Amino acid sequence: RARRALLHDLPQPAATLERLAVSDTPAPVCAEDYLELAQQRLPPDVAAYLFGGAEAELAARRNREALDAATLIPRFVRDTPFTPPGGPTLFGRRHASPLLLAPIAHQRLFHPDGEAASVLAALAQGVTPIVSSLASTPWPQLRQLAEDEALWFQIYWQGDRAATERLIERAAALRPEAWMITLDAPIGGLRWRLWRSGFRLPPRAAPANLEAQAPTQRTHDLAALLALAPTRDDLAWLRDRLRQPLLAKGVLHEADAEALARLGYDGIVVSNHGGRTFDAAPASLTQLEPIARAVGEKMTVLFDGGVRRGSDVAKALAQGASAVLVGRPYVAALALEGAHGVARCLRLLRDEYAAVAALL
Ligand code: FNR
Repeated sequence: RARRALLHDLPQPAATLERLAVSDTPAPVCAEDYLELAQQRLPPDVAAYLFGGAEAELAARRNREALDAATLIPRFVRDTPFTPPGGPTLFGRRHASPLLLAPIAHQRLFHPDGEAASVLAALAQGVTPIVSSLASTPWPQLRQLAEDEALWFQIYWQGDRAATERLIERAAALRPEAWMITLDAPIGGLRWRLWRSGFRLPPRAAPANLEAQAPTQRTHDLAALLALAPTRDDLAWLRDRLRQPLLAKGVLHEADAEALARLGYDGIVVSNHGGRTFDAAPASLTQLEPIARAVGEKMTVLFDGGVRRGSDVAKALAQGASAVLVGRPYVAALALEGAHGVARCLRLLRDEYAAVAALL
């Protein structure tokens, strides 16, 4: 499968040129190197879309600061030899590592192979991809590429139950093993960096699976926009509607986590959307431990926001997460090296995590 991912990537002239362009720089030794390289090489407006946060980007910075500030205390006196860490069992299936591919919109913006490349590369590395509602590749195509491997699907509420029902019916082509509704982006964030860059989404990266956006979603009438966000009853409807495991992404408050557990949700992602929506949000890491303590026995607790290193993965697991979602690093790798880059980025993170576990 890894070979196929590679072959899939090779005949593309663009990919070959990119490969040549990076050959004069040292190979990335860690996932963060991909971020650094992409900052240098992406067109400024695309870099603004990938790396930017909301407003002054404090929440995005807090994510990193909280992870940097956290420490892990190693223990050395032990009875048994070290065994490399495996992955968690989530909803009855054993994962190869505690990594998941965060849902990221519009991936053909970054590479012509877009979601096809990231899905194949993730599966090759034993990492389950979470496909975005805003994917720029047709869902049936992604299911075909994945063959029988598990995919998860991320739902954006479509304004009402009927439209969300149509989304779910179309996404059934992906045969998701689990569904994840994102709660923390009911309206667009105040993306100053993005706006300053003059970014406009090119047609090739537009959502490939959605109906045309309802006209109301383009207004600046916030009351009208928020009327399109799901209520508690809508979240209960969604729970009843879906038979597979259902998670909610973007939870930062214990009371929300408790409420979702009461509604029968199977899991949550403690997340501030990578700091892209609400700049006053706390770092997702500072919310993780209290939330895991409150609901960790009742539901699966996942984490994202700023994960760049193997030690970040270990820190999130130590504070109660079962697995972490990786966002910007794999997209930076996609932009630079297509499927090959995504596979390498995930491999670097997996190997780093194993080394950190050994050191711990
Ligand atoms: C996102 N994120 C996101 N989340 C989601 O639920 N649906 C989506 O379509 C997107 N799209 C998206 C695009 C881009 C360019 C980025 C960077 C992020 C949020 C994403 O799933 C995740 O929560 C964060 O990216 C995690 O933080 P890091 O790892 O990027 O710091």
